[in-house]
Amino acid sequence: VNEIKAIKNVQWIELGKHRIKPWYFSPYPQVMCAQPCIYLCEWCLKYVMNATCLARHLVKCNLRHPPGEEIYRKDTISFFEIDGRRSRTYAQNLCLLSKLFLDEKTLCYDTDPFLFYIMTVFDSRGFHIVGYFSKEKTSDENNLACVLTLPPYQRLGYGRLLIELSYELSKCERKTGSPEKPLSDLGLLSYRSYWSQAILDVLIKQKYTDSENEITISINEISEKTSINPDDVTSTLRDLKMIVYYKSQHVLCVKSDVVKNHLKDKSKPQVRIDASCLHWVPKE
Ligand code: COA
Ligand code: NA
Repeated sequence: VNEIKAIKNVQWIELGKHRIKPWYFSPYPQVMCAQPCIYLCEWCLKYVMNATCLARHLVKCNLRHPPGEEIYRKDTISFFEIDGRRSRTYAQNLCLLSKLFLDEKTLCYDTDPFLFYIMTVFDSRGFHIVGYFSKEKTSDENNLACVLTLPPYQRLGYGRLLIELSYELSKCERKTGSPEKPLSDLGLLSYRSYWSQAILDVLIKQKYTDSENEITISINEISEKTSINPDDVTSTLRDLKMIVYYKSQHVLCVKSDVVKNHLKDKSKPQVRIDASCLHWVPKE
């Protein structure tokens, strides 16, 4: 197979207080890539080739949060919704930045068909970008196109929060959804972990309403409660070894030890989306 992969071209980026080593190629202009480090404005994501240029830019840039509507806030975590057409420059700069950490995705220069949900953490200086996901405006099946947690913030549960918000939006739309394929290895790991937990949460609640050891619930019911599409529910249940056939239907066979393990997991602190802090209505 003669697959040619573009060679990694950016040595370092600086974003706010973080200096980050890129993972993959991203089509920044060649004159930028020739520098030892590309400096990004952490507010508008504009890129410049040295610290002096950045300092000059920061005098003029008065953004202190992503240039969109804040749709979620709880404690220090917020989400901003950015329209790829109305905030085209920001969206394009975001895509360039995120391509540094995405292998599979081809960079889309046309950001118009997408919405971007930027997750930030707040401090006295402003709302600092942690990660984001994109969503195609017109897609019926996919509730997420691309998801990224910036490397300094990875493995802290933020990826899970991004994924959770994508399903909360689908719940508002009364739809089920699935991420766009292919998923990266890290993307798949994160989704598997989210799906199992969301589904087990439904099963645990169900347990109290049904008789002691039998939980009967259909895949479609789980799908409706979680907004996880039925195929992803099925594959997750298969991974959890919880599917059996009963009267020629897929029926769940909930193993108490799996549920118990899950309850143990829940004792470790985990930030969750609080749906009461989401202020968002689907657009027609
Ligand atoms: N090794 C092993 N498991 C990992 C992992 C790693 N490096 N990163 C994530 N996971 C799994 C774990 O199961 C984790 O749960 P746990 O550690 O609590 O058991 C779960 O994924 C979620 O972890 P979380 O901390 O919420 O995710 P994250 O903030 O690190 O973000 C991605 C996950 C995928 C968004 C992040 O790795 C990323 O941005 N990768 C580059 C872009 C990409 O590949 N995006 C997906 C395709 S569009
Ligand atoms: Na994806």
